[in-house]
Amino acid sequence: MKLRRKYQPGGVKPSSRPFHCSPLKVILWLCFSVSLLYNLYFLDFLDYSITPNNIKYYLSKPCILNIEEHENEGNTSLRHLVFGIAGSSRTWSERQKCIQLWWRPDEMRGAVWLDKMVGYGIDDHLLPPIKISGNTSHFKYENPIGDRSALRLTRIVSETLKLGLNDVRWFVMGDDDTLFFPDNLIRVLSKYDHDQYYYIGSTSESHQQNIVYNYGMAYGGGGFAISYPLAKALANMQDRCIERYPGLYGSDDRIHACMSELGVPLTKERGFHQNDFYGNIFGILAAHPITPLVSLHHYSVTNAIFPRMDKLEALKKLIAPAKLDSAALLQQSICYDATRNWTISVSWGYAVQIIRGILHPREIELIARTFYSWYQTVEPEGFIFNSRPYYEHVCQKPFVHFFSDVSYNISTDQTLSEYIRQDYPYPRCEWKMADPLPIARVEVRKRPDPYVWDRAPRRNCCRILPTEKNDTLVVDVGECREDEFIEVR
Ligand SMILES: *[C@@H]1O[C@H](CO)[C@@H](O)[C@H](O)[C@H]1NC(C)=O
Ligand SMILES: *[C@@H]1O[C@H](CO)[C@@H](O)[C@H](O)[C@H]1NC(C)=O
Ligand SMILES: *[C@@H]1O[C@H](CO)[C@@H](O)[C@H](O)[C@H]1NC(C)=O
Ligand SMILES: *[C@@H]1O[C@H](CO)[C@@H](O)[C@H](O)[C@H]1NC(C)=O
Ligand SMILES: *[C@@H]1O[C@H](CO)[C@@H](O)[C@H](O)[C@H]1NC(C)=O
Repeated sequence: MKLRRKYQPGGVKPSSRPFHCSPLKVILWLCFSVSLLYNLYFLDFLDYSITPNNIKYYLSKPCILNIEEHENEGNTSLRHLVFGIAGSSRTWSERQKCIQLWWRPDEMRGAVWLDKMVGYGIDDHLLPPIKISGNTSHFKYENPIGDRSALRLTRIVSETLKLGLNDVRWFVMGDDDTLFFPDNLIRVLSKYDHDQYYYIGSTSESHQQNIVYNYGMAYGGGGFAISYPLAKALANMQDRCIERYPGLYGSDDRIHACMSELGVPLTKERGFHQNDFYGNIFGILAAHPITPLVSLHHYSVTNAIFPRMDKLEALKKLIAPAKLDSAALLQQSICYDATRNWTISVSWGYAVQIIRGILHPREIELIARTFYSWYQTVEPEGFIFNSRPYYEHVCQKPFVHFFSDVSYNISTDQTLSEYIRQDYPYPRCEWKMADPLPIARVEVRKRPDPYVWDRAPRRNCCRILPTEKNDTLVVDVGECREDEFIEVR
């Protein structure tokens, strides 16, 4: 039996996959979820759903894309990108709030592609123009569980190309529930020669999803980029190509099928996050791979990324640190408080964990399994990355300090970000070791380093700084000094 996934507030999503379910699996899962809920309660996130605002619809903002005349030279910047956002009239009223978080109307070009005109929301000037996809009713669609809107979403690339914009280097595709970090997107794309054929994105995190779909496919919700000449080659053959694969599910596997015909492989960049998870993705965000954060998908499926907040409000909290030091966002650094025997893990702009005892970098850099897979499992075999349990001994349950505020001090050229401890009952611990509970806040000092990704990737170092305040931990984060590495004595 195949089910469509449940969290689908009215939308057809090109990159949301169904999961497979048998009655036995349901029973096992129910039993399992009881223990899982118990295990997951540690982070005590409240899962508020979004109440759609009363959106006033009014028709017809003209769909004009900014056409800029620029010479095709210089470093790649936002003006060289064109975004094609896969939307649907049914989800538009809610999803436009996500798009608004990252869209910069004066700096970006692109459109949201819908099935029919719905009119704009309240802040139309803050949103990309709406375009209506061409009629695809003459294409065959034979997938028994999918939706034929996949056809029109597949054609966003070619329809965007047909707009004939100047000076385009990359076409960037995403869903209406994809949050992009545009400066990091530029950092990643500028590594590649846009005059050659490139298809850049990432797979699902779910092993099973990649077996069902493909390890060589860029998942649409994580977002992907196609270089200009490749988009042209694709557009020349896409409609015929689509006809050859009526049985496929979504739009991204159709694009992948055409890429296979063109012989262009996926260039995998780990900063694109399809986020095929349910529940609490704390573990994912606390141990980002050493690469810029490019996108986050599925905010409406996973829990709010900060406790006791609305999901969109929680995402919005990342915007302030992203403005001050986008290159550093979610980057992990690891250090030790030698006198108190604590392990400190910083995820810049998101959270700081204080853990009793010493966890070596090779352990703490693994993703803690705080979430379920897309197939509602928690076993490590379900994921394409190495992972670890959130904690193994109650004494090692992390004290989690969540990002609350950030400011930039021009005289020191440093950001000061503040993280406040989450209050929930911490378990009793018998270890004769300093208790992290009196630490109510963590201050992280860091010099913004916008060119960090022009160098070979390396994790930042962190150091514990002395402080008078007995309820505060002060941490300095920055490039490792010569010969500096994390050593536990
Ligand atoms: C291009 O970027 C590099 C650093 O990535 C910078 O040094 C250089 O000045 C930039 N060139 C232009 C024309 O902006
Ligand atoms: C799409 O084309 C079909 C015929 O090919 C037509 O019946 C249908 O009304 C068209 N839909 C729209 C929205 O124009
Ligand atoms: C520090 O923690 C490690 C294990 O996490 C333990 O083996 C060691 O005894 C502790 N040292 C002190 C001084 O508490
Ligand atoms: C910036 O840092 C300097 C030196 O530490 C300090 O004296 C000053 O108060 C700071 N300014 C702000 C606005 O925090
Ligand atoms: C922190 O220091 C203040 C005095 O500066 C003292 O009153 C308070 O009890 C101390 N708190 C802890 C947890 O030691």
